[in-house]
Amino acid sequence: MMFAFEHSDIHSCQSWGESVLESVSSRRPTAALCALQVVAVLFIVFASARAFSQDTPDYYRQNCMNCHTVGGGRLTGPDLKDVGKRREAEWLINFLQNPKAVIESGDAYAVKMVEESRGVVMPIAPGMTRYRAEQLLKLLEAESALEKSQFEGIKISSKPFTEQDRRAGYEYFVGQKRLTNGGASCISCHGMHDISALGGGRLGPDLTRVYERLKGRTSLSAWLMAPATETMQPIFKSHPLEAEEIHVLAAYFEAGAAHSEAEPSVSRITFLLIGLAISAAVIFGFDVIWKGRLHSVRRALVEASSQRRRQ
Ligand code: HEC
Ligand code: HEC
Repeated sequence: MMFAFEHSDIHSCQSWGESVLESVSSRRPTAALCALQVVAVLFIVFASARAFSQDTPDYYRQNCMNCHTVGGGRLTGPDLKDVGKRREAEWLINFLQNPKAVIESGDAYAVKMVEESRGVVMPIAPGMTRYRAEQLLKLLEAESALEKSQFEGIKISSKPFTEQDRRAGYEYFVGQKRLTNGGASCISCHGMHDISALGGGRLGPDLTRVYERLKGRTSLSAWLMAPATETMQPIFKSHPLEAEEIHVLAAYFEAGAAHSEAEPSVSRITFLLIGLAISAAVIFGFDVIWKGRLHSVRRALVEASSQRRRQ
């Protein structure tokens, strides 16, 4: 169908309702175009309303989910189911805006929470405002009322780790096995104790001791479900790790905790030694070639002179 766009001026849309009806009966292009515009406008309004209501869950998923569940038990932080019944809204809004300040004020409830969280102090989430905090609390209230919240988490497997798991974790780490959702293999940015000194990437930290650093299986697994740091988040938000991949990586990291890190200084020494070995080889090589050259020159001279003597 073709429309004459010069007809699409605002005035022709004033009685759009009638026009729509008319367009149905008479199929006048102007009226049809008005209807189309109205539909487009409504679509944009609905889409942005939807985006707006989606915003808080997305924000929660990115900034809160790796430390908290709603009804799934404690991770690094407490289970947030019914948190609104434990504390008053005003206290929670304050806490969300600056956890450290509330803890340092000596607030007994907050201090006890920190103890129960093994000393981890909740960070201030990026872009946190009073309004954001209110929206999050509303979301938590609604999610707490559900039989099963979408943030119950993350089924973290409790199967014991096997040798096979550790092996599979290693294979994902070094990229011998591809991650299902296309995430980059860990070795491009991370070192590990059993990766040769020059092998692992240097952009991220060595992960040999990460199992301890992130406080064991549950919180390490939760961390990997939704990495929330600057470099990790953008990569793994669109290419999340699968539960099975997290399980075997955790097995591999758990085994790593018994080793010491591939020290960067060790790799520097290795580098130096390799450098020295190469220079030695080069010098030795030249020496051999040079000697060979002298020999052949000398041999030629000797032969020449003995020939002369024979003559
Ligand atoms: C790095 C882990 C971490 C992240 C990320 C995190 N929290 Fe926390 N949260 C904690 C810890 C730990 C505590 C317990 C207090 C403490 O030790 O600081 C806590 C406490 C809380 C409490 C009080 C719980 C109670 O039982 O009274 C609320 C509410 C809360 N967090 C909400 C959030 C929200 C919402 C986000 C996302 C914007 C978030 N947290 C992000 C670790 C985290
Ligand atoms: C493009 C580089 C890159 C890739 C690929 C990458 N990481 Fe990271 N990772 C980082 C950086 C950089 C950090 C430090 C925090 C930050 O900036 O995100 C980090 C931090 C971490 C941490 C937290 C370490 C700590 O001590 O707190 C873990 C765990 C981790 N990465 C696991 C992995 C795993 C598992 C993979 C592979 C599935 C992986 N990373 C792939 C760059 C990467």
